[in-house]
Formats: sequence, structure tokens, C-alpha cells
Amino acid sequence: MTYAVAKEKLGKYGQEHVLQYFEELNEVEQAELLKQVEATDFSVVEAIGNEELVKKGKITPLKAMELAEIETNRDKYYQTGMEAIRAGRVGAVLLAGGMGTRLGSDDPKGMYNIGLTKDMYIFERLFVNLMDVTVQAGCPIHLFVMTSDKNHEATVKFMTEHAFFGYDAEYVHFFKQEMAPAADYSGKIYMESKSKMSTSPNGNGGWYISMKNTGILDIVKKAGIEWLNVFAVDNVLQRIADPVFVGAVLENNCVVGSKVVKKNAPDEKVGVMCLEDGRPSIVEYYELTEELMNAKDEKGDPAYNFGVILNYLFKESALAELLEKKLPLHVVEKKIPYMDKEGNFIKPEEPNGYKFESLVLDMIHEMDSCLPFEVVRNKEFAPIKNKTGVDSVESARALLKENGVEL
Ligand code: UTP
Repeated sequence: MTYAVAKEKLGKYGQEHVLQYFEELNEVEQAELLKQVEATDFSVVEAIGNEELVKKGKITPLKAMELAEIETNRDKYYQTGMEAIRAGRVGAVLLAGGMGTRLGSDDPKGMYNIGLTKDMYIFERLFVNLMDVTVQAGCPIHLFVMTSDKNHEATVKFMTEHAFFGYDAEYVHFFKQEMAPAADYSGKIYMESKSKMSTSPNGNGGWYISMKNTGILDIVKKAGIEWLNVFAVDNVLQRIADPVFVGAVLENNCVVGSKVVKKNAPDEKVGVMCLEDGRPSIVEYYELTEELMNAKDEKGDPAYNFGVILNYLFKESALAELLEKKLPLHVVEKKIPYMDKEGNFIKPEEPNGYKFESLVLDMIHEMDSCLPFEVVRNKEFAPIKNKTGVDSVESARALLKENGVEL
């Protein structure tokens, strides 16, 4: 891309400042910046203030499969799930491309050491949890690890150095998600240096498209994997490829399953499962009106009572259509490292602008059928988002101890 073409492209979105230091750069830097401008989709900034993009349709309740029903059918589900796992039809996708800004560590979140008397890394917990199932199954399952430009090398190095915590390395595959530019509150894209725009990973909703774009989907197809269990890096009690969950989704002929927990309180800050215009969906806590929050079902229980924990089982063939569609773009307030006017690199302590993300929860609305599958919160949900307080290292440690994990 030439300077003139780049200027024109940037001009369309009011981003000409990206080239303001161009004359000061050497040839290599100039070429890099032009390449970045060429590859960047600047239309994302148009999402700022555009509520229409994420506007919800008509919300109605969606019943979850609750613990008692799961218990009744546990053996049957376990057997069906195990059969699928042993036949190699189930793979797992670890979403580890996020920047974990709330936790505030420079390393990938999975490298965080939560141990007290010994080392105990978040990644380690996930491998150990996965091996609970693969040992029972008597065979490994393919694990696809999504990283981003910001943490790829460190993640691969760390897992390799730790020999995948005993997991079969041949079954671990890495792929990088795409990046999006990050902007200040007025929509101007931040510069990270004179020759580089600030970017951040484009949200966890990009995982399937990135699997396709990086060629990882070929491994999925070749291996005969039909189901992908997608999960977040930060839940150290995460059950991965849980045979009972897999079996329940298969037996109930759904194209996606979502692990859910009963909400603590009607206003708990979790996204809840629902129907939106008759299709499965997730309504975020800030979108839940008073009326919906207090709505009751025929048993007198809250009608929107089950929160998602970012653990989904997708039928791979149902995702193909998604490649043609664009998921809604969410404008998320975050801390964005940038270069100030004096040329200093700043790592802000407080949010200072917007990132643009698509979210895995929006994929659910594109699916024809979804099984919300209840799990016991204290046994399966210990997210680490913050350093202290709610969903923190401290709360996760307490939950690990409660589950007999020595730290
Ligand atoms: P979070 O929503 O907690 O985002 O991610 P985050 O970026 O990691 O953390 P904060 O908000 O900056 O503190 C939920 C899951 O989605 C993954 C994360 O790695 C985590 O497993 N994720 C998030 C991605 O894989 N890519 C992204 O672009 C964003």
C-alpha cells in the first residue's frame, strides 16, 4: 500500500493522525506501518455509540436442564459422552488470547502461579482437569489453544518448557486470533509507537473464524472431530470434555450445550441463558431489565436464573454458516497502552479507551438449539478475573481448597 492510498483509507475514518510521524521513520518502519494500515479494518470505530449493533430482540425464558434431571440420567449421559470421546469425536478449544488486563500481569493469564506452598499455574490446572477425563477415556483428545499476537510466543514457550504438564504434546495445537485497533474515547486510534497502532485481540468470538483462517480447522476435519468444547482460560475448576455434559447434549439432539450455574441473586453480574426472538441467546446482566430480573416461572423460581460460565459444546458442522456472518461488535472499555504526545510509552492504571470485540456468547444466537446444562457452582466455577475480591486469585484459591486441591 502506498502512502497516498493509506492516507485516503485513514481519511475515510478520521484517522489521518496515524501517519503523523511518517517522515521521521526509517524505510523499514514506514513499510511496516503501511502494511498495518492495509491490514486493519478501521470501520470498527463506527461501532462506538452505535447501540443498534448489539440491540436485543424479544427475550423469553429458556429452560435449563437442572441438577436433579442430570443426576437421574447421569449413567446414560456418561456412557454416550465417553463413547464420543473415545471415538475421537470431541475436541477442546482453550480461549487464551485475552490480555487479562484486570489481573494486571504482563504474562499470559495461564502462566499465573496460584500456588502457595508449591508452584501451581493456571494452565497446569487446566491440563490436570483435562487429564481427569483422558485418563478415564484411555486416550488423549485434541486441544486447540487460541493465543494472540500479544501472548503467543510466551504461551507456547511456557507450555513447552513445562512439557504440557504431562499431556501428550502431539495433541496440543496453537493458533492465533486476529487483532483489532484500539481507540481513545473520541474514536481516534491510539499509537503504540511512531510506527505502530495500538491493537488488541478481537474478542473471544473470533475463535472459529481464526481456526479456519489459520488452517487449524483442517486438523479438526482430518481427525474426525464433530464437537468442540470451548472454554475460558481463567476458570481453574473448569471441567473440560466432561462426558456427562457431552452425553446430555448429544442425547438431547442440540447443536450447542452451555454449562450454566444457578444465579446467586437476581442482579448477579453474569450473562443469563434465554430465548431471543425464539432462538437461544444470552442476555448480559446490564441488559436485563427489572421486569426480566424479577420474572418467575410456573414453579415460582426466577425465570432467568441460570448464568453462563464460558464453557460451551458446539457441533462443528453447525458453525460453518457462521463464517458467512458477522457477529455483533462490542465496544469494551479497557486499559490501552499507548504513546503520548511526548513519545513516552504509557501503561494506564485506569481504562482509557475502547477495544472492539466479538463475543463467543453471540455465537449461541446463531444456533438452532441449545441445552443449558446446570453444574454445581462451587465445584466447577472458580474464575480468576481480578487480583483481589470477587472472582479473584483469593476466591479461586478458596474454591480449589474446598475441592481438595492442595496449594
Ligand atoms: P475476558 O472477557 O475475561 O477478557 O475473557 P480478558 O481480555 O482475558 O481479561 P480482561 O477483561 O482484560 O481482564 C474471557 C476469556 O476469553 C478469552 C480470555 O483469554 C478468557 O479465556 N479471550 C478474551 C480471548 O481468547 N480473546 C480475546 O480477544 C478476549
